[in-house]
Amino acid sequence: MNKVLVIGGGGREHAIVDALSRSPQVSQIFCAPGNAGIAAQATLVNIKDTDVEGLLQFAKEQQIDLTVVGPEAALSVGVVDAFRAAGLPIFGHTKAATRIESSKEFAKEIMMKYGVPTAGYRSFSDFDEALAYVKEGDYPAVIKYDGLAAGKGVVIASTEEEAEAALRDMLLDASFGEGKVVIEDYLEGPEFSFMCFVDGGRVYPMPLAQDHKRAYDGDKGPNTGGMGAYTPLPFITEADERFALEKVLKATAEGMVAEGCPLSGVLYGGLMKTKQGIRVIEFNARFGDPETEVILPLLDTDPFEVFSRIAKGQPLPPIRWRKEATVGVVLASNGYPGTYEKGHLIEGADAFSGKIYHMGTKLQDGKLLTNGGRVMMCIMTGKDVKEAYDNVYDEIQKIHSDNLFYRKDIAHWAID
Ligand code: AMP
Ligand code: GLY
Repeated sequence: MNKVLVIGGGGREHAIVDALSRSPQVSQIFCAPGNAGIAAQATLVNIKDTDVEGLLQFAKEQQIDLTVVGPEAALSVGVVDAFRAAGLPIFGHTKAATRIESSKEFAKEIMMKYGVPTAGYRSFSDFDEALAYVKEGDYPAVIKYDGLAAGKGVVIASTEEEAEAALRDMLLDASFGEGKVVIEDYLEGPEFSFMCFVDGGRVYPMPLAQDHKRAYDGDKGPNTGGMGAYTPLPFITEADERFALEKVLKATAEGMVAEGCPLSGVLYGGLMKTKQGIRVIEFNARFGDPETEVILPLLDTDPFEVFSRIAKGQPLPPIRWRKEATVGVVLASNGYPGTYEKGHLIEGADAFSGKIYHMGTKLQDGKLLTNGGRVMMCIMTGKDVKEAYDNVYDEIQKIHSDNLFYRKDIAHWAID
């Protein structure tokens, strides 16, 4: 039997803990720092996800058999490198391999070198040169900060004024820190998320999912951390999927091996189906949030076996996935992604018959309270997306709070 530590504390980590709790090989789960929902399935450990020394010391003291890393912040400060140096099995990429997410310029260079299809681009560190380039170019212009920016480092500028403001913000004011910008061609088409477990050149695909980033129905309003997700995707053909697996995910994994920084963990392709074919919008070096919450419930192979073999560099038998659909709807605090209040009572969550993954909640005197922008994600399965959609929107009526809202159209791309 095995003791597992999960690093992180959001809905994604709740889904990881929930998956591991189904494994007959797992006796105890710890989560650092976790959240109020995760506390029902794991022992919470009060250590920050980027406190490498603290996490390492805890894993040694508790003789943890496997650590699973959720957030990119933990990967990019080198938690995997430190655990590996101490001989502790850990699921996640090294700091060098995490550059596939933490540097847009590095990711673009890898794609160019290994023929992975993506938007054309130039990178700049000089404001005047970047400004001259966008003045010559077409609109909308896509301007991306090179480094990690918590999902806020991309500006789609429709005018020269907007482009100049974005460049000023990123290069002169260094709002996200010192760093370059990548300016790339604007692409159009539906976006989708293709995640794989990766161990060097070996790639094991997960079902496709789609995130809904805008706050309000009809894909309107400001960008958020994700208001819902679903799987599978009827608008992506098997040929598209095969192409993406071979020419995007496998080609990138093999490229990273050739570069001397092999991947080991999850490679997330944020892809777009354009009229010219599949293109990469971004790579992430970890499970997507909220996609993971709708995908891991369908995992039909022992989750511990999957994480542990990837962590140890051992080949896996084919991973089995239940052939069902899931739809997940995020309940968010009124005002999110702007300012919002915390501490509002949530009632009825126990009556919801699907899975609930907590994102920002707090338990106080036995009462469940809101404690973040995105508060919880409600997930139901069905034989197809329409059935899962009907199920989740029926069941979500049971949950009550005077300060929560949710989108009524998650999965509309698959149903309309
Ligand atoms: P990223 O953080 O790179 O995923 O970008 C955030 C969002 O900006 C994406 O989900 C897309 O909707 C949009 N985006 C990024 N790059 C492009 C592009 N080259 N063309 C059109 N939209 C883009
Ligand atoms: N769902 C987008 C992300 O995880 O970055």
